Amino acid sequence: MAYTVPKLTDYSAAALESAADGLKSALREESRAVTDESQFKAFRDRWMARKSGVLSQLNDEWLKAAPKDSKRAVGQRVNEIKVHVEDVVAKAEHLRHELATASSLASGAVDITLPGIRRAIGAEHPVLRTSREIVAVFQKLGYSVADGPVIETDYYNFEALNFPPNHPARDTQDTLFIAGQQAKPLRERLLLRTHTSPVQIRTMEKMRPPIRIVIPGTVHRNDPPDASHSPMFHQIEGLAVDTNITFGDLKGTLDHAMKEFFGSSVKTSFRPSFFPFTEPSAEMFVSCFICGGSGRRGANPCRPCKQTGWIEILGCGMVDPNVFEFVKDTGYDPKKVSGFAFGMGAGEPRLARVDAVAQF
Ligand code: PHE
Repeated sequence: MAYTVPKLTDYSAAALESAADGLKSALREESRAVTDESQFKAFRDRWMARKSGVLSQLNDEWLKAAPKDSKRAVGQRVNEIKVHVEDVVAKAEHLRHELATASSLASGAVDITLPGIRRAIGAEHPVLRTSREIVAVFQKLGYSVADGPVIETDYYNFEALNFPPNHPARDTQDTLFIAGQQAKPLRERLLLRTHTSPVQIRTMEKMRPPIRIVIPGTVHRNDPPDASHSPMFHQIEGLAVDTNITFGDLKGTLDHAMKEFFGSSVKTSFRPSFFPFTEPSAEMFVSCFICGGSGRRGANPCRPCKQTGWIEILGCGMVDPNVFEFVKDTGYDPKKVSGFAFGMGAGEPRLARVDAVAQF
């Protein structure tokens, strides 16, 4: 017969104890009878339902009815029972789940030959993670992502970016050329792109202005590897072209992006520079996020910023009108549009970030 909460007449410790025992053994019996989902639900509701469950009856029949001087002892006992009931109900649920799984396995309802849920192994590479995070900052500003080939022609890597043949600025790029192409015209010769800037041209050939794009990708240079050089590294390029884009837009955008990425206390500084495809050109520095810009770490000099308090992050500038001449046919009339571009390495800034170093 199903258990019902008895009314108490005797509130002595011994009487409470035996009433609690009666309840517990009934609970044990009933929990053993549970085999399926619907039985479990009925069992759980019978004991725990807010309105008429056994626990709420305990409150009414035992606690509320108790004389004043027994209330405390009864309250403690009721609480103890409550915890016990919750525990048994949780165990019954667990057991029921296991039974159900076992029976569905036995009946063939679960096909154990299907592939399991794959868990990611290891962690994302810090350079790719940096790249993804920087791209995300610009995506929030409405930029979309573009890409292009790593094996590039001389035309896209140099000529259309306003590096004329034999221009000394080509020397700064330490280019790795594909061998055996002397017979081809210069502009068709293949090389490993030395920067992501060729994708500026490729994208402007395909998309009319206005555009706002970021271009993450790998680049190669003939640099022997050391602590700060690698023959292969990652860049993130940016390009915004519209009417009336100014250097103020460039500064505001990049300053905002650095604060998003490094934290709002970081400062930026722009210093004049030269790139054939931007005019004017600048290098942007951020205040050193290791030493906070002081150039010192306690008694020691700050090495990441070479004690200057500033770290060079990227090259940038206003798109040179000569570059627009190469993509005039898709609407980039240098008299009508203006834009800015920037390019940064994805390796260095993050590696220098303290939290990233800790993750390594
Ligand atoms: N492409 C340049 C480099 O690799 C960086 C740059 C990109 C500079 C865009 C200005 C504008 O050094």
